Amino acid sequence: MRHFNIALIPGDGIGPEVVAEGVNVLKAIEELDSGLTFSFTAFPWGCEYYLEHGRMMEEDGIDKLRKFDAIYLGAVGYPGVPDHISLRELLLRIRKTFDQYVNLRPISLLDPSLTPLKDKTEKDIDMLVIRENSEGEYAGAGDRLFKGNPEEVVLQTGVFSRKGTDRIIRYAYEEARRSNRTLTSISKGNALNYSMVFWDEVFEEIGKEYPDVTTYSYLVDAASLYFVTDPERFEVVVTSNLFGDIVTDIGAGITGGLGLATGANIHPEKKYPSMFEPVHGSAPDIAGKGMANPIAAIWSVSQMLDFFGEEKWGQAVLDTIKEMIGETEYLTPDLEGNAATSEVGDQFVKKLSKKQ
Ligand code: NAI
Ligand code: MG
Repeated sequence: MRHFNIALIPGDGIGPEVVAEGVNVLKAIEELDSGLTFSFTAFPWGCEYYLEHGRMMEEDGIDKLRKFDAIYLGAVGYPGVPDHISLRELLLRIRKTFDQYVNLRPISLLDPSLTPLKDKTEKDIDMLVIRENSEGEYAGAGDRLFKGNPEEVVLQTGVFSRKGTDRIIRYAYEEARRSNRTLTSISKGNALNYSMVFWDEVFEEIGKEYPDVTTYSYLVDAASLYFVTDPERFEVVVTSNLFGDIVTDIGAGITGGLGLATGANIHPEKKYPSMFEPVHGSAPDIAGKGMANPIAAIWSVSQMLDFFGEEKWGQAVLDTIKEMIGETEYLTPDLEGNAATSEVGDQFVKKLSKKQ
């Protein structure tokens, strides 16, 4: 019997609406596969919790999460609670404590109708962006001197450790080798003369151990242009925290938007739980209206299943997503349909079950 313990943090706004659909998909898989079971434990943390308790999660929240195989998160953020609090005290805390140093962001076009790019098809846009998720430009290092004075100076320091740079680049080479794809590094050595020169060196050094992997190296500005004009250049991509944040949003833009974008925060050594979440936020503008697209959150479930080693199910979920997009009948308003969140979820489960 394969069994996985999943912690649910539905969070705020549309988070609980989309997580509910993802959980229904996992429950359907449990029914369809007699050798596979999941247990779910929900935690009520987020901004509404903060407004009541003055904190984003329980004091021993991190310890409570430690024993799970995975964390499935909806979104956090709510008007009235500053974003830096909600982000830092929940999401970033989990990512940091559990050393989730790999951010995996698939950028795959599911249907030509979803891209604003002319003449691009599923074959042209199909990449995996591997973003460094633990240090770099988002390390939070710096200083602010002479605040408010004319001589004020602000420093925001990028932190690129040998260990941190090595492990993300190695992870990317392994992934490129495993999936027999090219590997592109995105950096900026011409302007960031310490950090990115170091990044490029490590990329080249480790590459010597992977002579079978074809590599490319682009400056981030050129890469941003190519994401739009020539996305077919990219297969597996590895990049720093900041650059990864930006290029994956371009990636979401060319593949159908936030309702479809997913990202996994992985601790590959499995000493701590990894976290799976749609890229979008809590979308207060549509929260409570049953309009949220649950597909990004369902795609997270596919990534979670892959991570559990249940690749057959991960692929089945992804295939079903493709089918759903192909037929416009069960799509939410962001994709020009008029189905409700739960109708998309129900239809998804029906389709998935029918295929087995
Ligand atoms: P957002 O992603 O919540 O919304 C941006 C736009 O996309 C909105 O118009 C929204 O309606 C639409 N949208 C997002 N997800 C959708 C879905 N599944 N289906 C249909 N439409 C969707 O970003 P925004 O408005 O900048 O942030 C709102 C709150 O979410 C803030 O408090 C922010 O801090 C938080 N946030 C949280 C994230 C997380 O938990 N990982 C990530 C991004 C933002
Ligand atoms: Mg982002």
